Amino acid sequence: MHRSLYLILIIPLALCFTGCGGAEKLDLKAVNADLTNGQVVYEDDCVLCHQGAIEGAHRLEQTERWQESADKGFEQLVRHTVNGYQGKYGELPVMGMCPQCSEQDIRDAIAYMLVTAGVMN
Ligand code: HEC
Repeated sequence: MHRSLYLILIIPLALCFTGCGGAEKLDLKAVNADLTNGQVVYEDDCVLCHQGAIEGAHRLEQTERWQESADKGFEQLVRHTVNGYQGKYGELPVMGMCPQCSEQDIRDAIAYMLVTAGVMN
C-alpha cells in the first residue's frame, strides 16, 4: 500500500525530469526589455488577472505554467498579448487589457513576468 502510494507520487516526477528537462530558459539579453518599466506595467495592468483573481491566468509563482508559455518563444508571447489569445486555461484579452500600453510596454511586462517566474534570465 505504501509502496504503491510512493509510486503514484514518483512517476509524474520522473516523467517531469525527462519531459520537462528539455525546457530551456529564455535569454533576457536577446529581447531588449526594460524590467523596471515592465514591473510598473505589470503592477498597473496585468496583476489583476495574473495574481489569480481571474481564473486561468498564471500567477508568477506557477513556474511550470510559465515554462509552458516560454517554450512558445518570446515573440509568440508578445503576439498573443498584443492580439489577444484564447488558450486552454482562459482568455488573455487584447493588449492584456492595457489599451494605452505601447508594444514595448507589453514586451517589458512579459519579460518582467518571465524573469520573476524564473523561466528567463
Ligand atoms: C483579463 C485578465 C487578464 C489580464 C488583464 C492580463 N492577462 Fe495575461 N493571461 C490571462 C489568461 C487567462 C492567460 C492564460 C491563457 C491560456 O494559456 O489559456 C494569460 C496568459 C498570458 C501570457 C502567456 C500567453 C501564452 O501564449 O502562453 C502572457 C505572456 C500574458 N498573459 C501577458 C500579460 C500581460 C503582459 C498583461 C498586462 C499588460 C496581461 N497578460 C494581462 C488573462 C489576463
